[in-house]
Amino acid sequence: MKVLLSAEKIQERITEMAAAIARDYPDRPVTFVGVLTGCLMFLADLIRHLDIRCRIGLIQASSYRGEATTAGPLRIDPALLPDVRGKHVILLDDILDTGNTLAQIVALLKGLEVASIRTAVLLRKKDRQIVPLEPDYLGFDIPDAFVVGYGLDYNDEYRHLPYIGVLEE
Ligand code: XMP
Repeated sequence: MKVLLSAEKIQERITEMAAAIARDYPDRPVTFVGVLTGCLMFLADLIRHLDIRCRIGLIQASSYRGEATTAGPLRIDPALLPDVRGKHVILLDDILDTGNTLAQIVALLKGLEVASIRTAVLLRKKDRQIVPLEPDYLGFDIPDAFVVGYGLDYNDEYRHLPYIGVLEE
């Protein structure tokens, strides 16, 4: 495993992202909607830096990746989503790859008549992006390599690592 982003570097950047969110939402309660399962670490660490009124919701998105590094068809399951109508939502995801997942969930949330929607992603593989979607809050731009750790998995393993690494063959 080659370490791409150390635990310290991730925490430092998340502190900065939380400060930016707190500046932008001084008096509007935020509903954070995390995309399962990869968002778990990012969501938990980010919100612990925030001294603002907020709610938390979750949405599941899966592309039946399994052991493969290329995605299958996307399925979105909103069963765990609270009522977001009229709420100021920040959608949180671990990684922006092609942009399909985030774009589809943004469209779904807009259809539920949220008051406003912004996106926060920890990682972006800029060279792979197909859907034009600029995250409002971005942690790091990374090269086009399959990464694991800090919520990201390979075949559902490695999510618990406090750093982000590139799996070596
Ligand atoms: P799209 O292409 O829809 O993909 O932007 C976003 C989702 O794809 C998964 N993904 C990865 N998962 N390492 C992972 O563990 C990676 O390098 C990687 N690239 C994409 C992830 O689930 C993300 O939400």
